[in-house]
Amino acid sequence: MSHVITGGAIVGGVCGQPITHSMSPVIHNAWIAAAGLDAAYVPFAPAAERFETFVDGLRGGAMRGLNVTIPFKERALAVADTASDLARMAGAANLLMFGEDGRVHADNTDGPGLLGAIAIQAPSFDVTTAPVVILGAGGAARGAVAALLLAGAPRIAVVNRTVARAQELADTFGEKVVAKGEDALPALLPEAGLIINATSLGLGGGAGPAADLTLTPNTAVVMDMVYKPLRTEFLRRAEAAGRLTVDGLEMLLRQAMPTFEAIYGQAPSPSVDVRALALKRLGEV
Ligand code: ATR
Repeated sequence: MSHVITGGAIVGGVCGQPITHSMSPVIHNAWIAAAGLDAAYVPFAPAAERFETFVDGLRGGAMRGLNVTIPFKERALAVADTASDLARMAGAANLLMFGEDGRVHADNTDGPGLLGAIAIQAPSFDVTTAPVVILGAGGAARGAVAALLLAGAPRIAVVNRTVARAQELADTFGEKVVAKGEDALPALLPEAGLIINATSLGLGGGAGPAADLTLTPNTAVVMDMVYKPLRTEFLRRAEAAGRLTVDGLEMLLRQAMPTFEAIYGQAPSPSVDVRALALKRLGEV
């Protein structure tokens, strides 16, 4: 089946630096082809100092919606005219929507992606009752805190090597979020219902965070936002301890679903096995 793009096509895309290994074009174009849409999803890697100029050039009709990834997510929020509550709380946007009037709206579908991945891979987990431990205090951690708070998480401990950075993050969220150093883990883990690795540790196959997951309750859920490799050392240790795990690839796929709907006006077809497609790209099968 050939996929025809006409002058009336809906154009979406993704912008990051670098962008070569982004999975998003593969995922969105597979959904576009399956739906037979007159549409395209295109990768962009503008020079870092030209990000704002690039986005300004898309105002008023060039593009319907643009995913934004590392290192532009914070600047994407700043360049927008309006923003969703989640994007504001996360301090970052992974989706810019372009209105016909030239205005840009910032949204964040990483949050729904995180919650969607948990709902699929750990369906028994109740986000409104369990204390959460988040490892890391960068942009990924901030996004996770925002999504979990909006979903009703009662208590979140942000644990970071650099405690001052965790404190800075916690201070912006109020009393439900506390900042801790790594030395607090032995006390936090036995109480935790959900533990999320939001550090860059484990990326590319290295050792994950040092947290001793055998200290967690049997019912605890362990999630890794890193998805290269799919089964990180952190998730392997969680599995060895008998814990239910949630992988970062599912989060990536679940953020792509509401993104696709926002840009192309319809839900992606469930008939496309995007997880299998992504696993193939990752060299996991
Ligand atoms: P992102 O925006 O993807 O979250 P980031 O802002 O660079 O990325 O944050 C990376 C996170 O991984 C930080 O929490 C960082 O801890 P510090 O704030 O102390 O730097 C954490 N991290 C990276 N390397 C680490 C290491 N070797 N040990 C512990 N934490 C590490």
